[in-house]
Amino acid sequence: MTLVAAREAFSADRARAAASAPRGRSDAAVPPDPDPLPAPLLQMQGVSLEYRTPDRVVRATHRIDLDVYAADRFVLLGPSGCGKSTLLKAVAGFHAPVEGEIRLDGEVVRGPGPDRIVVFQEFDQLPPWKTVAQNVAFPLRAAGLLGRREAEARARHYIDKVGLTAFADSYPHQLSGGMKQRVAIARALATQPKVLLMDEPFAALDALTRRRMQEELLALWEEVRFTLLFVTHAIEEALVIGNRVALFSPHPGRVRSEVNAHAFNLASLGSGAFQAAVQRLHERLFEAAPEPAAPAVPR
Ligand SMILES: Nc1ncnc2c1ncn2[C@@H]1O[C@H](COP(=O)(O)OP(=O)(O)OP(=O)(O)O)[C@@H](O)[C@H]1O
Ligand SMILES: [Mg+2]
Repeated sequence: MTLVAAREAFSADRARAAASAPRGRSDAAVPPDPDPLPAPLLQMQGVSLEYRTPDRVVRATHRIDLDVYAADRFVLLGPSGCGKSTLLKAVAGFHAPVEGEIRLDGEVVRGPGPDRIVVFQEFDQLPPWKTVAQNVAFPLRAAGLLGRREAEARARHYIDKVGLTAFADSYPHQLSGGMKQRVAIARALATQPKVLLMDEPFAALDALTRRRMQEELLALWEEVRFTLLFVTHAIEEALVIGNRVALFSPHPGRVRSEVNAHAFNLASLGSGAFQAAVQRLHERLFEAAPEPAAPAVPR
């Protein structure tokens, strides 16, 4: 087990212990925890999300409860239509819950902000008339985070981190799909968000590039230790990228269970333990939903 995996296992164990410990106890015989578990950075409490069309209401997620801790690589895994993207949009502040609330650093999320940046699946997230460096620097300037020189310096720093220094002055149409995704990741990380939100960012890439991007994202995480909320419907990707994986049931999405995936990384791919975990998740994802699906509600 690597040091990082050991630390993650330790913090996951502490999270479980904290969750099961009696609350509000003041027992003088119990010494205070020298390193108490921090509060979750991102909390979803009873979050239901809906779409309203003129003739009906579609419930996308139903009462989601999730806690994401700083430096977690938290994966939302579930079948198509279970509300993963909608939940991500709600965390980003683009979709308000009809029930429950989302808190970031204790503050209720009421709209978008530079502390939450989304990287999408599509390659056309970058304005084509800006160079790579201009694309990465732009949000820093637009949000008034930095002046021109500082923005440029920070942009180049993160472009370097994603291995695109030689392309800093190229335009998006001169880049491959994978390179464009790297620019989108550099742009997101440059704003130093509290949470990086990724919605199937590698789904449109070929298998080899996808594997390489997963590797790079993990290497970047080792270096920067950002907090990641990552959506996928690929089981292997969930286990490789995540230290924690929330499994969603089909439409409307509910959290079916949470899985600790800290033991796995790209090196685990061929191992028996990894294949067994994939198989278990596969069975859980496709087993008959125990709860009745909430149908679309006529208005
Ligand atoms: N703009 C919309 N108007 C009405 N219903 C919508 C809208 N967007 C999504 N939905 C519905 O909400 C549900 C959740 O959609 P969402 O896109 O969040 O699923 P998802 O888990 O991200 O799926 P996928 O894996 O295919 O991306 C689906 O039933 C979908 O049909
Ligand atoms: Mg989606």
